[in-house]
Amino acid sequence: MTSTSSLPDFWAQRFTLGDWNTRASVRASTHTYLLPPDLEQQLETRHWFPPAFLPYLSHPSIKAAGQSVIHRLSANHLVYFLDYTTLLEHRIVNRSVETIVHGELDISIPLRMKTAALQLYTDEGFHALFSSSLAEQIAEHYGITRRPAMPRRITRLNALLNQAPERHKALAWFLVGFVSETIIASELLDVCRDTLVSSVQEMLRDHLSDEARHSRYFSEVFHYLWLTLTSSQRTFAAKYLVEIILLFFEIDDRWLKDSLHDAGLNSAGVADILAGLAGSPAVVQRARSGAGATLQALRNAGFFDLRSNQQLFAQAGLVDE
Ligand SMILES: [Fe+2]
Ligand SMILES: [Fe+2]
Repeated sequence: MTSTSSLPDFWAQRFTLGDWNTRASVRASTHTYLLPPDLEQQLETRHWFPPAFLPYLSHPSIKAAGQSVIHRLSANHLVYFLDYTTLLEHRIVNRSVETIVHGELDISIPLRMKTAALQLYTDEGFHALFSSSLAEQIAEHYGITRRPAMPRRITRLNALLNQAPERHKALAWFLVGFVSETIIASELLDVCRDTLVSSVQEMLRDHLSDEARHSRYFSEVFHYLWLTLTSSQRTFAAKYLVEIILLFFEIDDRWLKDSLHDAGLNSAGVADILAGLAGSPAVVQRARSGAGATLQALRNAGFFDLRSNQQLFAQAGLVDE
C-alpha cells in the first residue's frame, strides 16, 4: 500500500533520513577499513574493543594472564560482534525494512517513508560489508577459527519470529527492526567512546552516524504505525516488544565460555565470570540502561498511555511502576 497524497505535513516531514545523500557513510565516507600498518604500536595504547564492555577482563585470573590475553579476548569479542552485525543487518534489519518498502504492514506508506526505507536498506548493506571486511582481517591476524555460523541472538530472534502468528508476522518483523534500530545507536555510542585501533574506531563511528538517523526514523515510523493498530494488534505488539527488548540483552554464554577457555582460563574462572553475566536480573538491568531510546520512542508514541502496557513493562522490570 503506497500513497503520496493524503498525509498531513506534520507527519510527512518526519519520515526522512535527513542529509542522507551527503552524509551517509555509503555515500560520503573515505575510510578504507583496512588494519593500520602500525597496528602493533597502536595496541600498546589502544584496544580492539572497549574494556568497559567486557567486564570479565578485570577478573583477577585474566589480569594475571597479561596484556596479550586481554588483546586476544577483545579481538575474539570484536570478531564475534562484527560477524553478528553482518548477519543482523542482512537477515534481520533489512528483512524488517522490507515490510515498509513493500507495503506488508496494514498502513499507507508515504513516498518519503518508502524512500528513506530504501536508503536505510542501502546503509545496512554497507554496514554488513565493512563489518565483514574487518572481521576477516582480524580473524586472519590472530588465526581465529572459532566463529559460530549463527550467533545465539540471531537464532533466538529467528525462533521468536517463527512463533509469531501468521496474521501478525509482518508486524512482528517490523517490531524486531524497530527495537534493534533504536538500541544499536546507544550501543555504538558507548563503544565509540574508547580509544580503539584506528580502523575499528573509524568503522564504528561511520556506523554510529548512520544509526543515529536510523533510530530517529524507526521511532517515527513506530509512532505512525502505533496510532493505526487495532486493539488485537496492540495487545500482540506490547507482549512481543517485552520479549524482543529482553532478548537483545541476553548474552551468548556458550560462545563466551569457549572464548574464555581458548584464552587459557581455567574452568573455575570461566564459571565465576559467566555467573555474574547470565540470569534474568542481569538481563533486565542491562535492558533498562541500554534500551533508553526504545522506551523513549514508546513513550513518545503514547504506548504507555495504555495502563496495561505500563503494567506489562513494569512487571518485566523494564520501567518503574
Ligand atoms: Fe547498521
Ligand atoms: Fe541501522
